[in-house]
Amino acid sequence: MFDAEVFVNEQLKKIKAQMKDGKAIIACSGGVDSVVCAVLASRAVGDNLLAVFVDTGLMRKNEPDEVREMLKEMNVNFKIIDAADLFFEGLKGVTDPEKKRKSVGERFIRCFEKEAKEYGAKYLVQGTIAPDVIESGTGGKGLVKSHHNVGGLPKDMDLELVEPVIELYKEEVRQVARYLGIRVSERQPFPGPGLSVRCLGEVTPENIAIVREACHVVEDELQKASKAEKMELPWQYFAALLPTRSTGVMNDERMYGRTVVVRAVLTKDAITATPAQIPYDVLEKISSRITGTLGDKVTRVVYDVTTKPPATIEWE
Ligand code: XMP
Repeated sequence: MFDAEVFVNEQLKKIKAQMKDGKAIIACSGGVDSVVCAVLASRAVGDNLLAVFVDTGLMRKNEPDEVREMLKEMNVNFKIIDAADLFFEGLKGVTDPEKKRKSVGERFIRCFEKEAKEYGAKYLVQGTIAPDVIESGTGGKGLVKSHHNVGGLPKDMDLELVEPVIELYKEEVRQVARYLGIRVSERQPFPGPGLSVRCLGEVTPENIAIVREACHVVEDELQKASKAEKMELPWQYFAALLPTRSTGVMNDERMYGRTVVVRAVLTKDAITATPAQIPYDVLEKISSRITGTLGDKVTRVVYDVTTKPPATIEWE
């Protein structure tokens, strides 16, 4: 039986022993994995840890502000870097999902290396969890996707890795987050490459703005439905934007708009998953809100009912 208190005490000792007086840097995305690691490392070594939130321009609605508030609340020494231009530049013309991941991952690391040098960091703390390693093929199985906190690390990186939650599954990380009093303990996972992998085809600021709004609608409506006890909140729920256009009609005129796919899944460990059974009226509300707000661009909303396998949870 996993015991969060025992785990935390062990990790604090381990981190202190590994880092001694050295300085460490962490990429804090605001997700439960990286925040748990940031708080653990910060409690172990105080301001010898710098948490860096890179605003890639690929984050969800209001995310940078929420992360700022949360890190303040947890007394973590942090810095926010606005690097959206750098990431969009790297994604220009890229449509291949793996190339997107590599592009985002490499720029991420580049930003960190720069910060790490300036800060004088010797260690890189990472929120890698067990399924990341399994699915990235380093655990003896074939490559599913190169999750960027594993696959994108340059070989010549001169920072020593500290990965406090590498042996844990998501539910265990949440238990640790609850124990530490972290407000995002129940937050759904969000992929490292951000909205770039929810924007099929080319990633542009305009396309990201569409999928960001669509994701916000899905999150908002499902959270409302769950509060109203119409359904359990799924494990993960979001929207993806497809590159193909289909025929639509608006004000008696034919138009060719984009399609938004709604994805909501139930799973234990993200290795297998089943689609959530969303009440029909909630789906209709999501559809009418998305086409209502993005009607000049999105003319179709569909619900993905595929299990994992064969589909993955994300569309890329
Ligand atoms: P898939 O889509 O492979 O995703 O079924 C399984 C879980 O991992 C998340 N995911 C990622 N997380 N970097 C991450 O840190 C990534 O590149 C990445 N890709 C997918 C996904 O959201 C799901 O929870």
